[in-house]
Amino acid sequence: LAERLHSNGIATPQARIVVEKPFGRDLESARALNAELADYFAEDQIYRIDHYLGKETVQNLMAVRFGNLLFEPLWNAQYVDHIQISVAETVGVEGRGEYYDKSGAMRDMVQNHLMQLLCLIAMEPPNHFEPDAVRDEKLKVIRSLDPVQPDDIIRGQYRADEDGSELSYAEESGNPDSRTESFVALKVHVANWRWNGTPFYLRTGKRLRSRVSEIVVVFKEPPHSVFGEEAGQSANILTIRLQPNEGMTLQVTIKEPGPGGMRLMDVPLDMSFAEALGESGSGMPDAYERLIMDVVRGNQTLFMRGDEVEAAWAWTDPIIEGWTARRDKPQLYYPGTNGPEDSLMLLHRDGRRWRDLEA
Ligand code: BG6
Repeated sequence: LAERLHSNGIATPQARIVVEKPFGRDLESARALNAELADYFAEDQIYRIDHYLGKETVQNLMAVRFGNLLFEPLWNAQYVDHIQISVAETVGVEGRGEYYDKSGAMRDMVQNHLMQLLCLIAMEPPNHFEPDAVRDEKLKVIRSLDPVQPDDIIRGQYRADEDGSELSYAEESGNPDSRTESFVALKVHVANWRWNGTPFYLRTGKRLRSRVSEIVVVFKEPPHSVFGEEAGQSANILTIRLQPNEGMTLQVTIKEPGPGGMRLMDVPLDMSFAEALGESGSGMPDAYERLIMDVVRGNQTLFMRGDEVEAAWAWTDPIIEGWTARRDKPQLYYPGTNGPEDSLMLLHRDGRRWRDLEA
């Protein structure tokens, strides 16, 4: 297409080209695509879309982190125990089986959408909210990711419902022998000074219990129990809900009301953006509307740069190659659940647990 736009005189220096995902299916094909585009367009004319970056609440991640003093001093391995990023869907592969079966959750969601969320949560503050300043910081996060160990990845595939009312993935995708994952959970390490020792747990899947995307920052417990063990004490948890019911909840510890000594309890400081913003929070543009307006305005901040996409594939490729070489089979899970049992173990063995997938 780029070549034809050029030969028909459309790829002028003023033109912009928007490229939707999938941007390649591995590092090699992404590099080839970048090189081909570069023959006809300069990097500042190329807009690689990841629609998650167009979501209001995803941009809010940056506003919350860098517009407040409160969180940033605690936003590191010294105070954060671990972080969970969940993107759960209730839909199956619907009519997209042919594409999806060659892709799977790792290529379809983790390499792009979850990776972008991880970047926004883990990155250093850029000095300005400008395209290259933001993208340089995201790139550093991707390049800091440790390779993922096979034990730290759980793949799943949805089966048919017990009463047969919901088709299995294999039936829906039209490939009865498919080894493609419709669910993946993994433990990721960002190997840098800020995050050394704080794991990031990522999971995404189709046909799960509810449609919910959220980021959960679990802080460490206070270092000393002033009120004694029997008073009970727990960690602060910041939950950022991306969809639906966008908002934030901070779990804080207070005194349980009543006489008879000091007992502690957790209460949520709950903020629904819809309630807090009232009228001004309604009628937000859809992610694509916003991104296309950015193309028109020539603002690349919320678009992926070529090196960012390549770095994401460079990290993803060995994971996929590993399970292809091992002829790994995804574990089956029932629709309407939290995914395969082993994904619970991924956290249990570290003495942690996933937050419930509640819409
Ligand atoms: C797309 C994936 O990029 O994102 C789909 O290809 C997925 O498989 C979709 O369903 C999820 O987007 P959203 O905005 O509904 O969370």
